[in-house]
Amino acid sequence: MLEAQRAVQSVNLYDQFGRHINYLRISLTDHCNLRCVYCMPTQDLAFLPNQDLLTADEIEVVARAAVKVGFRKFRLTGGEPTLRRDVVDIVHRIASIPGVADLSMTTNGIRLTDLAADLKAAGLRRVNVHIDSLNGERLPQLMRWGRLEKLWAGLEAAASAGLTPIKINCVVTKGYNDEDVVDMARLTLAHPWGVRFIELMPLGSGAEAQVAVDHFVPSRDTQARIEAALGELMPIPNRDPSDESRNYRLAGAPGTIGFISPVSAPYCDTCNRMRLTADGKFHLCLLHDDELDVKAALRSGGGQTAVEAILARAVALKPTGHALRRGIHTEDRRMYQIGG
Ligand code: 5AD
Ligand code: SF4
Repeated sequence: MLEAQRAVQSVNLYDQFGRHINYLRISLTDHCNLRCVYCMPTQDLAFLPNQDLLTADEIEVVARAAVKVGFRKFRLTGGEPTLRRDVVDIVHRIASIPGVADLSMTTNGIRLTDLAADLKAAGLRRVNVHIDSLNGERLPQLMRWGRLEKLWAGLEAAASAGLTPIKINCVVTKGYNDEDVVDMARLTLAHPWGVRFIELMPLGSGAEAQVAVDHFVPSRDTQARIEAALGELMPIPNRDPSDESRNYRLAGAPGTIGFISPVSAPYCDTCNRMRLTADGKFHLCLLHDDELDVKAALRSGGGQTAVEAILARAVALKPTGHALRRGIHTEDRRMYQIGG
């Protein structure tokens, strides 16, 4: 191992609550080819103008700065990250930085039929694919514009390209897909996939936040429904303390079932993340509005060293705790503007 590389790998960054922050989620765009009812409206959307998005060069500078100050894990998100025309190039740039231990992507999978092999070759390790239902009629009511065949084809493309271990994100939404969780869970009997059921979070001040409140299903109800139909779920000990999912297995299943419960069981204590928005702000916590501008620094001539300083400050200022259970949520940003 190179001496310089060894030096880089020994850096660890802690926030004021003693949390080890080493995971950066990078949003590549606020655009999406779907309009999930709890995430995006179908009308009156104002997207970022292209010149406001960080360029591939700028994203690479931020990623290099992040590695320098102690980040090891990276995830690309959106909106829908595969809508960025330079997504393969961005993957290649980040994967090539010494010290990057993991590079993954959250996607709705639709474009993976075209892109999975190229993304894998560029250095992407794995994907989380968002599918809320396996019912071809109900899915488009929740993931508006989504077609089950397309999402499923994307999932298969990811599996055959080796973007593994594959995780599936299912946002449980009362009246839309809460009955479909059993079929989703059953997938783990046939595939070595991690199916994760996510509690709805109200984000932003738009109508979608109200949808998230009105259609909320607690994880314990989802778990009870699955166990009533498929039998007991056996807990899997959590090897990674920053894994926000409580994981289980059905008897004999190659795959796993997870519950992500930001509302009923907040996991702020073990949060290890920082987020970069598509328009170049460090967003300190998904459930707070605090941000530090990094794009302004980059565009006024600040290089990697300036970004390192901003990132260190962002980590130092990272808040903890949220009040989702009392219905208090962020004002400024919606999920597609931050990335999950
Ligand atoms: N609450 C919880 N999860 C959400 N997602 C999108 N919007 C919400 C919400 N309001 C999930 C999607 C996507 C991931 C980034 O976040 O499943 O996969
Ligand atoms: Fe798009 Fe994901 Fe939002 Fe659905 S949840 S509209 S797939 S960004």
